[in-house]
Amino acid sequence: MSSPVWHPFTQHGLGEPIPLVTHASGALLHTADGRTIVDAISSWWVTTHGHCHPRIMAAIAAQAQRLDQLIFAGWTHEPAEALARELVALMPLTLTRVFYSDSGSTSVEVALKMALGYWAHRGAPRHKIIVMEHSYHGDTIGAMSVGARGVFNQAYEALLFDVVTVPFPAAGREQACYDALQTACMADAAAFIVEPLVLGAGGMLMYPPAVLAQLRAICAAHDVLFIADEVMTGWGRTGTLLACEQAAVSPDILCLSKGLTGGSLPLAVTMASEPVYQAHYAPDRSKMFFHSSSYTANPLACAAANANLAVWREEPVMARIATLAARQAERLEALPGAENKRLCGTIAACDLPGEAGYLAAAAPRLMAAAREAGLLLRPLGNTVYVMPPYCITEAELDLVYRVIDEAIAG
Ligand SMILES: Cc1ncc(COP(=O)(O)O)c(C=O)c1O
Repeated sequence: MSSPVWHPFTQHGLGEPIPLVTHASGALLHTADGRTIVDAISSWWVTTHGHCHPRIMAAIAAQAQRLDQLIFAGWTHEPAEALARELVALMPLTLTRVFYSDSGSTSVEVALKMALGYWAHRGAPRHKIIVMEHSYHGDTIGAMSVGARGVFNQAYEALLFDVVTVPFPAAGREQACYDALQTACMADAAAFIVEPLVLGAGGMLMYPPAVLAQLRAICAAHDVLFIADEVMTGWGRTGTLLACEQAAVSPDILCLSKGLTGGSLPLAVTMASEPVYQAHYAPDRSKMFFHSSSYTANPLACAAANANLAVWREEPVMARIATLAARQAERLEALPGAENKRLCGTIAACDLPGEAGYLAAAAPRLMAAAREAGLLLRPLGNTVYVMPPYCITEAELDLVYRVIDEAIAG
C-alpha cells in the first residue's frame, strides 16, 4: 500500500516521487537514499539561518526540559513574555501588542478579526477588506478570501467572503492602484491588507518602497487600518528586517511567522497598535478578543523564536543577507534567456519562456529536473525563484543557477 500521508499542494495521482529526508544542516537536506539536496527555497520560505541552527536547536532542547505546553488564556510563561517584549522593541514603534498564533494563515485570520473588532467595539462597524490583485495570505477560509482567486481556491469559492481588489501597482500602473485604493477607502473600508514589496505566491511580483509608502499614506488619510502581511517578506528576505522598513511604513497591524523561529517550529504573531488593542480593552467581557488555538504561544516555539532573536543580535545576519543579495544579483544578471528578471534583497525571480499560470507545465518539469540534480526548487507556474537560507555557500548557489540555466536552455 502507498503511504497514507496526504501531502499539501501535491497531486498524488501523478505518482511523482516524494523524497524522504532524514536530516538537514545549513542549506542542505539529506535523503534516506543518501543524496544531498540544496534547499533553494528555504523549505517554503521559513529557514533563514540554515537548517538545525545549533543555537535554536539547543534552546528548544533546553525549554523541553522545563515547560512543554501551557494554556495561554489567562496564563503566561517567560518565553512568551520575553519574546513579546523584544518584538515590541524591535518592530515599528506603533506596534505595542503581540498576539500569538501558530501559522501565517492564522496570523492573517487574527489580523482580520482584530480589524473588524476594532471598528465594532468603537461603535462604528465596518466590514469591507481591501486587497491587492495577485495577493496570497494563506489557505484558511478568511486568508483565502483576501487572496487572489484561482484554480487553488475555485472549489471553495462559495465560502469566500467578498473583498475589494485594487490593481497590482506594476510599473506605469501605480496611479490606477492608488485611485482604486482611495475609492475603496472612501467607502468605509475596515482595512487594507498587503504583502509589502513582494507578492510571494502570486508570482514573486515586486513593487518599490515609494509605492508602499503611498499606499500606507492613502489608508492613513482615510482612517482605514493598514495590515502588513510580512509572513514571507519579514526576517530579512527583502534585505531589511521588515520590508516596511524600506518605506518607513508603520502598519496598524503586522503579521509575522515563517522566519520568526528561524524556520524551526510553527509560530506566528499578529502585532497590533495601541488603538487596536484599546478598542478591545474594557471591563466588558463581551469585548475581549475571541480568538485562540490550543497551541497559542507554545513555549518550545517561543524559546526557538527567542533563540532566533539572539542569532539576529549576536551573529552577522545583516552582513550575510547583504552578501547573499549581492550574489543573487550577479547570478540573476548572468542568467541568459530568462524573462522579467527581478530582485528584492535576497529574493531573485524570473520567468521561463512559454505558458504562464500556476499550472504551467514548466513548473513540474523544472521541479523534477532540479530534484534529479540535487536541488529543491518549487517554481510558481513559469516563475522560477531562488530564496535560500542566508548561509548558502557560493558553490551551492552555483548549482542552483546551473540547473535553472539548463532548464531555460532546454
Ligand atoms: C504572505 C503570506 N501570508 C501568509 C502565508 C500563510 O502562511 P502559512 O503557510 O504559514 O499558513 C504565506 C505563506 O506562504 C505567505 O506567503
